[in-house]
Amino acid sequence: MTHRTAYRTIPVLDQRPGALPVPPGAAGNALASGQTRDTLGRPLRDLRISVTDRCNFRCSYCMPKEVFDKDYAYLPHSALLSFEEITRIARQFVAHGVQKIRLTGGEPLLRKNLEVLIAQLAALRTPDGEPLDITLTTNGSLLARKARALKAAGLQRVTVSLDGLDDAVFKKMNDVDFPVADVLAGIAAARAAGLGPIKVNMVVKRGTNEHEIVPMARHFQGTGVVLRFIEYMDVGATNGWRMDEVLPSREVIARLQTALPLVALEASAPGETAQRWGYANAQGDYDPRLGEVGVISSVTQAFCADCNRARLSTEGQLYLCLFASQGYDLRSLVRTGNADDDALAQAIGNIWHGRTDRYSLLRAALPPEAQGTGARRVEMSYIGG
Ligand code: GTP
Ligand code: 5AD
Ligand code: SF4
Ligand code: SF4
Repeated sequence: MTHRTAYRTIPVLDQRPGALPVPPGAAGNALASGQTRDTLGRPLRDLRISVTDRCNFRCSYCMPKEVFDKDYAYLPHSALLSFEEITRIARQFVAHGVQKIRLTGGEPLLRKNLEVLIAQLAALRTPDGEPLDITLTTNGSLLARKARALKAAGLQRVTVSLDGLDDAVFKKMNDVDFPVADVLAGIAAARAAGLGPIKVNMVVKRGTNEHEIVPMARHFQGTGVVLRFIEYMDVGATNGWRMDEVLPSREVIARLQTALPLVALEASAPGETAQRWGYANAQGDYDPRLGEVGVISSVTQAFCADCNRARLSTEGQLYLCLFASQGYDLRSLVRTGNADDDALAQAIGNIWHGRTDRYSLLRAALPPEAQGTGARRVEMSYIGG
């Protein structure tokens, strides 16, 4: 049996009577004011919650078949946070300033009764009384079946992963023979259900799917779907990442420009992952009817400076960076620690307050041969994308 790596965790439960959970190095008092900031002044705005570590795809860049085989030891059901535990933790994140919640996996639609969780999260309000932006990242395989129920439960939008339009290329990337047409049917169902604006994420691997860039752009141009090209990252410890398989976003834009003229657009939100480019009309001006694309350049142009994202793993570990090698054990706090909501809020505030993470910025400063090496990192299927 292949055993899942037991990731290192940082306990946040201090066993001494009356002690508050304060992680090493964190300054004492982080009240839930909706304005909590880390050591680099970054606010906490985006919470990504992984609801399962399982997936029905085996994308080589995320869950390679050789590692995630039939004997792989996934988390047992008892280890997973319940919907009530997730909602309770999420409520305290919202008190600290979170405005967007993204459900991820693995493949989040594999978690049974996910609509029940969505309905609970949709009922949360920010300190200003606003509803949250609730979204979900999916491979689209179950979307045609579930889109309407997800919308009815309160999901606002979805982001669908799709790495090419050519079946042979896509099947090579998902490694389970899944056809493009079924993902496109999922996107169509999401659109019909009103789960928009829909985004499509395409991970670009040099030598594997780079020739799908222009066909994908042509396919989605003018449809209202925002296509984003993602640089292949050295996340996790199993995908065999190599720098020479990364196609820098500037090359993606250059390729697109030869077929479809683009103009740079302003960021729509602080801390946004994607740089936006709009399709130009014959006069060379951005034409909103043609829509836009995005590039996510976490390898060649790190965006850590205003990273406002926290990640909650399937079993309730809080990770402060996609590339972290250890997480803070919130599950024990809610499950065995009997922490009340104030103590939970204080723990979350203190952890964010002490945050220093900026992996991609630091990686970019390394010599090329050292990039993608270093401490054993957590898998993306475990903490979510
Ligand atoms: P929107 O609100 O829809 O714009 O979402 P988003 O761009 O914040 O999230 P999404 O999950 O769609 O992100 C797209 C991809 O960007 C992910 O799958 C990752 O590959 C990458 N990504 C997202 N967040 C981070 C991050 O904090 N650090 C790094 N290095 N990459 C990230
Ligand atoms: N590099 C970049 N993005 C990745 N994802 C997973 N693994 C990687 C990687 N190695 C992202 C993709 C996918 C989402 C679920 O996770 O964007 O669409
Ligand atoms: Fe599954 Fe998404 Fe990872 Fe592919 S990228 S293996 S679809 S979780
Ligand atoms: Fe944020 Fe870490 Fe990604 Fe930088 S590498 S943007 S700190 S998650």
